[in-house]
Amino acid sequence: MTLDVGSLRDQALAAIDAAADLRALDEVRVSYLGKKGAVTGLLKQLGGMDPDSRKEAGRQINELKDRLESALGERKAGLQAAALEARLQAERVDVTLPAREEQVGRIHPVSQVTDEIIAIFADMGFAVAEGPDVEDDFHNFEALNLPKEHPARQMHDTFYLEAEQNGAPLLLRTHTSPVQIRTMLAGKPPFRIIAPGRTYRVDSDMTHTPMFHQVEGLLIDRRTHMGHLKGCLIDFVRSYFESDRIPVRFRPSYFPFTEPSAEMDIGCKRSQGELVVGEGSDWLEILGCGMVHPKVLRAVNLDPDEWQGFAFGMGIDRVAMLKYGIPDLRTFFEADLRWLKHYGFMPLDVPTLAGGLSR
Ligand code: PHE
Repeated sequence: MTLDVGSLRDQALAAIDAAADLRALDEVRVSYLGKKGAVTGLLKQLGGMDPDSRKEAGRQINELKDRLESALGERKAGLQAAALEARLQAERVDVTLPAREEQVGRIHPVSQVTDEIIAIFADMGFAVAEGPDVEDDFHNFEALNLPKEHPARQMHDTFYLEAEQNGAPLLLRTHTSPVQIRTMLAGKPPFRIIAPGRTYRVDSDMTHTPMFHQVEGLLIDRRTHMGHLKGCLIDFVRSYFESDRIPVRFRPSYFPFTEPSAEMDIGCKRSQGELVVGEGSDWLEILGCGMVHPKVLRAVNLDPDEWQGFAFGMGIDRVAMLKYGIPDLRTFFEADLRWLKHYGFMPLDVPTLAGGLSR
């Protein structure tokens, strides 16, 4: 019996070559090398041969098998590469194209401005700290040198809750200053933090809403003085309003938790009901500040002869209105999508000092 190994090989190699894709190639493999394939069929015939022809035929069939296997492997690699290439072409994405803007909503001015403020202070080495909206009397008042009968408590128009703690009702924090206390009790000096967040007071008119936003700043070190406070805040205002020519002034003021205390104003002018920041002869208050009172330091177990520093508290909504020309504070909280579309910011324009705060 003779085997026509040669023509089977030519046939098989032609079929491998002709296979157009991986599936067709696998069919070719099965039809030659599979259990019922042609080559396997040849192997089965070996049993009926005499020993000499069997040896020769076996060698030829194994050679054929090897040859077909390597041809299959090569073709497979070629087809896989072509398939990958085709897929890469089909799924090609131009990552340099701008995002489709309309579909992604808008960032609220308060969020935008909070991010801008964080970016500026982060650059000066301040970390972001947080505290709860529901506070207790100790953190919101007592530790900030506002004892029970202190008249300044009345200025805070506090929302009290029904729940009590240590004999005093819990409350909605009236300022972000309790985060000063929490930060200093939880860690070791030096401290350099800002704390943006929601604050609450019983108050509502054109320029006041029961919930509003503040950012607290606290820097405690061994030699920090009022000059650092002024430099830091002047730098902040100029970065924030993106102008080196913003006039600023510090007016003496009073806060129980700072001594001395000041309020910072920026220069502005009002013309035809519009407020223009950075020029003119009017002044607008944007924050309260001062050197942290020794009693506050003692309340958090720091020795005022060793540690000192400054704190400030700024109205976020107020500086957002000033920077972006938003006339009515109440519109911030009306959740009107048309308003948000007008005053909101693109989600992908994250404010950074390098890339620009606002665009
Ligand atoms: N907590 C004060 C307020 O709400 C602001 C302030 C903070 C003043 C820190 C001085 C120091 O008006």
